[in-house]
Amino acid sequence: MKIDSICCIGAGYVGGPTMAVIAQKCPDIKVTVVDLNEARIAAWNDTDLNKLPVYEPGLAEVVKEARGRNLFFSTEVDKAIDEAQMIFISVNTPTKMYGAGKGMAADLKYIELCARQIARVAKSDKIVVEKSTLPVRTAEAIKSILDNTGNGVNFQILSNPEFLAEGTAVQDLHNPDRVLIGGNDPEAIQALAEVYGRWVPQERILTTNVWSSELSKLTANAFLAQRVSSINAISELCEKTEADVSEVAKAIGMDSRIGSKFLKASVGFGGSCFQKDILNLVYIAKSYGLHEVADYWEQVVIMNDHQKHRFAKNIVRTLYNTVSGKKIAMLGWAFKKDTNDTRESAAINVAQDLINEEAKVVVYDPKVEKSQIEFDLGNQSEAIAVETNPYEACKNAHAIAILTEWDEFTTYDWQKIYDSMLKPAFVFDGRNILDKQKMKDIGFVYNAVGSSN
Ligand code: UDX
Ligand code: UDX
Ligand code: ADP
Repeated sequence: MKIDSICCIGAGYVGGPTMAVIAQKCPDIKVTVVDLNEARIAAWNDTDLNKLPVYEPGLAEVVKEARGRNLFFSTEVDKAIDEAQMIFISVNTPTKMYGAGKGMAADLKYIELCARQIARVAKSDKIVVEKSTLPVRTAEAIKSILDNTGNGVNFQILSNPEFLAEGTAVQDLHNPDRVLIGGNDPEAIQALAEVYGRWVPQERILTTNVWSSELSKLTANAFLAQRVSSINAISELCEKTEADVSEVAKAIGMDSRIGSKFLKASVGFGGSCFQKDILNLVYIAKSYGLHEVADYWEQVVIMNDHQKHRFAKNIVRTLYNTVSGKKIAMLGWAFKKDTNDTRESAAINVAQDLINEEAKVVVYDPKVEKSQIEFDLGNQSEAIAVETNPYEACKNAHAIAILTEWDEFTTYDWQKIYDSMLKPAFVFDGRNILDKQKMKDIGFVYNAVGSSN
């Protein structure tokens, strides 16, 4: 079956960029991205490409090329479902905050709503593709809803998890390590493989059964997060022993069995996936009675929480055990560089801990809006200020904390910043991006993650 019409439900960090690239690479396929959120769709349609709801390097160019040609953003969900042969579900699956599995399980209510909507609207056969990260065996639930509430048409379900990382989404979509398609209908699998086959080499398109595909996504994120927690655990030991975590990471990373990636010690991992997916994995393990498996993976999240709190505690301790009334400049709010996404960002926890110690926190981030920072802090938002100029943010500060590894931070005039601060001038580099020796030569008291001063 040749696909000529695709619909994607959910115009977020995954759905937006993924569909933009599919539309770019397949000019003959009509791709419609729909969302209930009118403001979000309006932003995707904005003529000012700086206003797209998702910031990703290179994304504006892709949208510019395809939008209006074969890429459309709309709030007319039913119409788009009706027209499409293939429907991607790319809605949010946050951690459930109520009832059974509270704080751990994935909340599938948005997925179920989508399935019911597809079933109600579809008048012809459809291939339904799970793009959102889902617990293993979700396809079973989707299939049951589609088959029991539909209009008698035939549905095929595929799992096609997205492995793009934010900040490099366009690059990852253009040149993926692999595309994973799980399914049990060869024809449906082939139809989706042909879409990706327009630009992804055949040997990188991997097909499996649906359950392996669903579980592989959770497993990939768990393994990646585990590496960060593992190196972060070693970072604390380094600080006590005069070992240097960057040197340790380099030394172990050169072992080809270990590899060099994802070994950067940091203030802790963030993002919409790692914590959520591991907690989900833990919950699934528990639900099968596999308590050792659950405990093993849960420790990755516990270590990450520890790393975030430890960073804030270290600031307080170093500033003579009190930050009350002291100005602390936080550089970076996004969970990593080159994205405006702040979900689960370590910066949020660090700010909360510092606010609880009555610090005067001032935040600067190159891409995150003030309103987002205030939203993330909820009723604590009145305790902080947001600056649009980094030099203003640092002026008269007792300390600077670096939370995100934005490249621009390394290009600042650090002498000028030092001159404008109270002395001793402290820097807590949660990403190890600045040159330790240079900072010390200027006069800063410089604290990195995973090395003693
Ligand atoms: C290990 C380290 O590899 C080596 O660098 C160090 O100097 C000494 O310890 P060794 O114990 O000889 O070497 O063997 P290794 O190949 O690492 O295997 C260790 C155990 O892990 C074995 O029982 C092996 O069967 C098991 N293993 C290894 C797995 O079960 N799965 C794997 O993917 C790899
Ligand atoms: C992740 C996966 O990489 C991606 O494949 C999946 O599809 C979604 O989840 P993402 O959350 O966008 O992507 O970013 P990633 O680059 O994985 O970083 C996650 C967090 O780990 C960030 O907060 C990052 O700063 C942190 N991290 C990463 C480290 O602290 N050290 C590292 O060495 C690598
Ligand atoms: P992700 O990072 O997984 O892309 P986002 O939260 O950025 O997550 O995006 C998910 C999008 O899905 C949101 O914009 C949300 O409004 C949208 N969405 C959720 N449920 C539905 C639904 N039933 N119909 C249409 N859009 C939906």
